[in-house]
Amino acid sequence: MNQARILIVDDDDIARKNFTRILQREGFDVSTAETGSSALERLAQRSCDVVMTDLVMEDVNGLELLSRIKNQFPETEVILITGYASIPTAIEAIKKGAYHYIEKPVRPAEMVHLARQAVEKKRLREQIVKLEARIKGDLEEPILIGQSRQMVEAIKLMKQIAKVDCNVLITGESGTGKELAASMIHYHSPRRNRRFLAINCGGFAEELLANELFGHEKDAFTGASSARAGLLETASGGTLLLDEIGDMPPSMQVKLLRAIQEQELIRVGGNRPIPIDVRVISATNQDLKKAVNAGLFRQDLYYRLNVVTIDMPPLRDRKADIPLLAHFFLRRFARQFHREITGLSEETMAVLQGYYFPGNVRELENIIEHAVAMARDDTISVKDLPSDFSEIGVFSFEKPNSQVMPLREMERKYIEWVLRRVGRNKTQASRLLGIDRSSLWRHLKNSEIEE
Ligand SMILES: Nc1ncnc2c1ncn2[C@@H]1O[C@H](COP(=O)(O)OP(=O)(O)OP(=O)(O)O)[C@@H](O)[C@H]1O
Ligand SMILES: [Mg+2]
Repeated sequence: MNQARILIVDDDDIARKNFTRILQREGFDVSTAETGSSALERLAQRSCDVVMTDLVMEDVNGLELLSRIKNQFPETEVILITGYASIPTAIEAIKKGAYHYIEKPVRPAEMVHLARQAVEKKRLREQIVKLEARIKGDLEEPILIGQSRQMVEAIKLMKQIAKVDCNVLITGESGTGKELAASMIHYHSPRRNRRFLAINCGGFAEELLANELFGHEKDAFTGASSARAGLLETASGGTLLLDEIGDMPPSMQVKLLRAIQEQELIRVGGNRPIPIDVRVISATNQDLKKAVNAGLFRQDLYYRLNVVTIDMPPLRDRKADIPLLAHFFLRRFARQFHREITGLSEETMAVLQGYYFPGNVRELENIIEHAVAMARDDTISVKDLPSDFSEIGVFSFEKPNSQVMPLREMERKYIEWVLRRVGRNKTQASRLLGIDRSSLWRHLKNSEIEE
């Protein structure tokens, strides 16, 4: 068990020294603060198990401090130190979430005993949170499949930078595993027992996004009947994934930059700065550098977010991963659908490896899900794949009932088939067909293939 950390808050020098001595002697890691506001600053820098605070102080009194701690650092336990006259107030404080109170003059044995109990309560609750997370599967190690050179390198980089508390930008086409990569970084980081939250920055209107990210104070707008913390605050201590960061409106970019730079934020409709401690991972399938050059994305924010970049390569560029991923998804869906499916036919694998995968790993996952659901046998064959793929049979000359057709028509069908395979990307199609773009263009015109 780590050494328990206690913060003593008292404006009386002698009392601070005295309490420090009592607790240090018993092995606690003790720090002190003279005022309530400096106590809050300290907590923002370094978390504490227990705060022991005097009730009557000049700037922020013990009760106020209690409510701010419960608001900003809810996992910290608070013990109030109080004179006889203020005992009713101390009891009031317990109703507001204080762990207990100690009556002055302080008896060392009582102080140590209460400190131990408060620490134990806090640690127990942490255990429960961890267990709950494990039950929900939150803490299970994310599985990122990949044996291609690019993925092996990317995974190595993720594990390495996970330990360094820097912001990360993950780039890659849709469905390449950006969110999975972010959760993997979080899992291998010292923040793993705290939350990993994600928000899609492109999915909200501007005001809503501000509200989601920064939270709001009571009465910030019509309908805000109570204050609410935003994701940057809730993810404090943990990691926040800002998905589709390229879609964040410019005004929000300014606010986000400020929050990340200062590690504090102001809720919508509020004016009090709230300290945060968040690792920000952003993801995008756009070329952010281009967006910066076009003046659509702030350069200063870009540099803040992009301390390290991880690029998730498209699946078509790492064909070595296709069989591995296909088997991984096959096992997963077979278990989920209670089907005894053991593998994929060679022909199926060949078809998959020849495919362009415009939707990347997510598309492969969907294809396998479909195939496992449809399979008529214990092995997946081409006819179990979604209909686009099964049409490949047109070109199987071995089939007894294959139709004979004019070469021109065959060509037309074949080009159409390739185009569909590559998500109608003509550059890619011409490369696969071994002709240049202008010849492909001519073919398309001659055979009137629909755009
Ligand atoms: N290497 C991988 N190993 C196992 N599963 C993967 C891998 N890469 C992606 N997946 C799975 O593919 C799906 C898509 O991944 P994810 O959501 O992380 O992609 P994304 O890049 O965030 O996509 P989008 O840009 O559409 O948000 C998820 O179900 C994820 O679990
Ligand atoms: Mg995503």
